[in-house]
Amino acid sequence: MSFFLLFLFLPLSVLSSPVISLISLPFNSTHEFIPSSYIKYLESAGATTVRVPFTASDDEIRKFVDNSNGFFFQGGKPSLPASAVSAFNYVNEIQDNGVYYPMWGTCLGFQWLTQLIADDTSVLELGVFDSEDLLLPLRDVEDGSRMFRGAEGEEYMQVDMKRLFEGYNVTLNMHTDGINISTAERIEGYNILSVNEDRNGKAFVSAFEHETRPIYGAQFHPEKNGFEYGIDENGGPAEPASHSVQGVRASFELARFYVQEARKSGLRYDPESGIEMVFYSNDGIEPGSNHEETYLWKV
Ligand SMILES: *[C@@H]1O[C@H](CO)[C@@H](O)[C@H](O)[C@H]1NC(C)=O
Ligand SMILES: *[C@@H]1O[C@H](CO)[C@@H](O)[C@H](O)[C@H]1NC(C)=O
Ligand SMILES: *[C@@H]1O[C@H](CO)[C@@H](O)[C@H](O)[C@H]1NC(C)=O
Repeated sequence: MSFFLLFLFLPLSVLSSPVISLISLPFNSTHEFIPSSYIKYLESAGATTVRVPFTASDDEIRKFVDNSNGFFFQGGKPSLPASAVSAFNYVNEIQDNGVYYPMWGTCLGFQWLTQLIADDTSVLELGVFDSEDLLLPLRDVEDGSRMFRGAEGEEYMQVDMKRLFEGYNVTLNMHTDGINISTAERIEGYNILSVNEDRNGKAFVSAFEHETRPIYGAQFHPEKNGFEYGIDENGGPAEPASHSVQGVRASFELARFYVQEARKSGLRYDPESGIEMVFYSNDGIEPGSNHEETYLWKV
């Protein structure tokens, strides 16, 4: 009886939260993965998540978009897959039809979205940036931007995002690929929101937003400040994420901003769709160091 009630009421409780789609990445030849830090990050701001297979077909992508309030591209290694191209194209189509549906990319996801907006994969410079494990304050933050104005809401909830991101080491970079400034300036509709330099002084775009569409990206990893505490084989931190008051607040403010964007698309999730939340649909959680927990799916 209680089991029955649980399943009866589950979809109703889920409907009040925005649902975010994330593409899982190849883990090995039998599994795909999403680090749980992205899931917790989105949950920290009031969203729930669904997992999209890396090799999802156009029809599957449409179903995920139609049943979610936003698409979130995680960090990782693979080059732009057909599923991400399909998601980007379909989301642009529904945006053209007046649906508010935001997209966010972190690290690799930021690079994919830049390539998609430019419609050119060669905008990404490969292997030239010395910026792995590099914790930085942002430089030249566009405080008039939507992202760094912060989440809409009551005034008492606002924080000075420019001061927070420029004043403290709160952005963790984990990349050797990146977008340089002269390339970025040539991409139509692509607004550079901040610039940083790697250890050799080579400049890269660290955040962007699309001029007219709700599309956002961060080259750094906001989710790690709040949700990655793994240790390496020597017992030290696996990565130099900032767990300071400022680091965690910076992370939360970006999560809150993106989830507020997703709330604007209203209710889209249909409990009859068969799409299940990440925490109910995975094939296991594996502990690790760079990712303290990883959700796995058999493929
Ligand atoms: C892939 O990783 C999972 C989780 O660690 C493991 O269970 C599985 O056996 C691995 N597959 C191969 C082919 O190594
Ligand atoms: C900027 O990146 C492009 C690739 O998109 C590359 O061709 C160009 O040489 C780079 N420019 C500088 C100044 O590094
Ligand atoms: C960031 O960290 C570096 C290296 O530890 C330090 O030199 C710099 O002053 C810090 N910047 C801020 C704004 O705290």
